Amino acid sequence: MEVGIDKISFYVPKRYVDMTDLAEARGVDPNKFHIGLGQDQMAVTTADEDIVTLGANAATQILTDEDKATIDLVIVGTESSLDESKATAVVLHDLLEIQPFARAYEIKEACYGATAALMLAKRHVLANPERKALVIASDIARYGLNSAGEPTQGAGAVAILVTANPRILALENDSVPLTQNIYDFWRPTGEEFPRVDGKLSNQTYIDSFAKVWEEYKKRTGLNFDDFTALTFHSPYTKMGKKALLPLSDNAHLLEEFEKAIVYNRRVGNLYTGSLYLSLISLLENSTDLVAGNRLGLFSYGSGTVAEFFSAKLVEGFEKNLQTEYHRHLLDARQRLSISEYEKIFNSKGLGQAGVKFSLREVLDGIPFYNKN
Ligand code: CAA
Repeated sequence: MEVGIDKISFYVPKRYVDMTDLAEARGVDPNKFHIGLGQDQMAVTTADEDIVTLGANAATQILTDEDKATIDLVIVGTESSLDESKATAVVLHDLLEIQPFARAYEIKEACYGATAALMLAKRHVLANPERKALVIASDIARYGLNSAGEPTQGAGAVAILVTANPRILALENDSVPLTQNIYDFWRPTGEEFPRVDGKLSNQTYIDSFAKVWEEYKKRTGLNFDDFTALTFHSPYTKMGKKALLPLSDNAHLLEEFEKAIVYNRRVGNLYTGSLYLSLISLLENSTDLVAGNRLGLFSYGSGTVAEFFSAKLVEGFEKNLQTEYHRHLLDARQRLSISEYEKIFNSKGLGQAGVKFSLREVLDGIPFYNKN
């Protein structure tokens, strides 16, 4: 029996900053951001948005009443948690009106959290094929004004419905995880911004990809030619290419890589959701994909846990995408001036919008929400 991604959608904040504006305000050559980092726009949350509203909007786009009656596992991967104790998944389970006899919990390992959730969801559905599992990745990446990490901020959520006989991607049984205790990026409890050793984080990401790929090759006998496309965790979009290029200059993979970063270039880092935004970007922007193609996914969470795994496209996958909605979502956002962005950034603590409001209020406040 195949288990995998039946539906997948993302949601991003209603406002963004243009990276040329940010570069000019910081006295930096705009090419450093557009070419050096590979970022064109950066999502910015306001006081009415938090990981709950982002996650609820991402999930509502894909869930039907039948899904809500069948889901019995809700896992949220996040490193922007609102509470040390209560899981965001419990709030989302309520807001999304999922039937009560379910497990709901939050999972943390930096940007790797959603992949851990996906692997658990897969095992759950393998054991209970009549059930469905909902994985939500939701984060707000904030490094601070004028910090080295500032141009790699962003925010957003991805929701993934995991089922038997999935209609988009069947997950293969080939994943290779890697855990290494390294302090490249971390955020001690109570601190607003992460501590980052930027160069070490880049190098650890690159080394982690090389290690899991080498092990994957050894275990499966597959090589880069067996893949139609690779998608990467994308803290900034050049990062995946920096990891791939030392190992392969396969022209087709590099061509598809550009399709897999179309959306990420316009959003920035979603932390846990970044790899899955890249996957959606590939699925919705590549014109070369057909059923049976093998896609590779590289997940990386600082601290660190990395994992490489593959999935195969299933017949008719293109009919189950949300391409039009996603493009509208990105195009309809409001561009902020740098002074507006700075004011919003300074005035905002961690959002609590989703905790305080009902789903109706959360969604009514969102003009792009177009389900009804
Ligand atoms: N034109 C074109 N390119 C230019 C340029 C110009 N005028 N000026 C600079 N560049 C290039 C540089 O050559 C460099 O490219 P290469 O790395 O390919 O050589 C790139 O722009 C960035 O320049 P710097 O290395 O000088 O940038 P920086 O030191 O200011 O910071 C950063 C870069 C370390 C990524 C920093 O933004 C940061 O700390 N970000 C947060 C941490 C992060 O994202 N780490 C990634 C791995 S960790 C992870 O993946 C988990 C996660 O989500 C956080």
